[in-house]
Amino acid sequence: MDQNTIKKALITGIAGQDGSYLTEFLLSKGYEVHGIIRWDSIFTTERIDHLYQDPHINGVRLFLHYGDMTDSGNLEKLINQIKPGEIYHLAAMSHVKVSFDMPEYTANTDALGTLRILEAIKNSGSPIKFYMAASSEMFGTSAPPQNETTPFHPRSPYACAKVFSYHITRLYREAYGIFAANGVLFNHESTRRGPTFVTKKITRAIARIKAGLDKKIYLGNLSAKRDWGFAPEYIEAMWRMLQQPLPDDFVIATGETCSVEEFLEEAFKYAGFNDWKPYVEIDKRYFRPAEVEVLVGDARKAKEKFGWNPKIKIHDLVKIMIDADFRALGLVPPGEGDKILKEKFPNRWWKID
Ligand code: GDD
Repeated sequence: MDQNTIKKALITGIAGQDGSYLTEFLLSKGYEVHGIIRWDSIFTTERIDHLYQDPHINGVRLFLHYGDMTDSGNLEKLINQIKPGEIYHLAAMSHVKVSFDMPEYTANTDALGTLRILEAIKNSGSPIKFYMAASSEMFGTSAPPQNETTPFHPRSPYACAKVFSYHITRLYREAYGIFAANGVLFNHESTRRGPTFVTKKITRAIARIKAGLDKKIYLGNLSAKRDWGFAPEYIEAMWRMLQQPLPDDFVIATGETCSVEEFLEEAFKYAGFNDWKPYVEIDKRYFRPAEVEVLVGDARKAKEKFGWNPKIKIHDLVKIMIDADFRALGLVPPGEGDKILKEKFPNRWWKID
């Protein structure tokens, strides 16, 4: 493809779960992908290592840049140099519990970070499309099912920062005509989920218990309910939002919910345990000062506007995640998860972990 016609995307948070899948997806669609990573003294790019190529080789389409959501000069420079057609803003301090420990950092990174990028887009004068990773956490205590018209009632510094980002994104759309869309994504998990989020914490611990490496798992509030979907399907929705004729905001969710306890039970059962209780202890440190009790999304708008319809619900998700965690420790996985992936996604664009 001609250098002038090739589509360019910039992803903030490229090294995260969503960033890594989005990179694979956009590369499979022929994009040149640029990603922002934070400097660290160790490599933190494990999730995209299988996609990375030495930039000295010809025809490379993935480029990584150092940057940070707190550094507006750096963000302006990158946007002006790269001149992306689309920006996917995924970078955030995304752990709800940690946001209570680091509220100021969270607000700076997650709220002002979004404003910094929007300012850079505005000042660039280029017609850059902007995707903002909003969150179902913004709904907080609002009664389910939650959709695009549900009021926000944030219950953490993280959720407050996301509410700011959501509104500033809308404002820049209305005030400056920027093609800016909010994706209000409900929880979405995968084999690449970070190990401090509850689903991965559970599936990883089960594999470790099975392998004889651990005896127990320590958890917090088991009664909270979440609408858990499968991350690769949510990534396709992000891209679809930026391909719409007009910018808009969309809820992305499965429409089904289950409690942490139900997830636990299902995961232990699939892994061959009769009962989860002997392996689980409740530890107060994992409770949050304010909790979001029930999230259930209503994604009808996304279905109507661009045909988004998730294939993976909670039962399949458990199997996919357990199979991968077993494999990672050299255990033979039960295997149903792998079968589901092959059957439901014959044209899969991501690597199975
Ligand atoms: N992390 C964690 N660790 N959560 C626990 C634990 C534990 O040991 N025990 C119980 N939980 C409960 C939490 O209290 C919460 O109600 C639920 O499990 C899910 O917690 P997380 O997996 O940490 O996810 P989250 O719902 O708080 O936030 C995730 O989803 C949001 C979308 O709704 C994150 O990915 C956010 O970044 C995202 O915006």
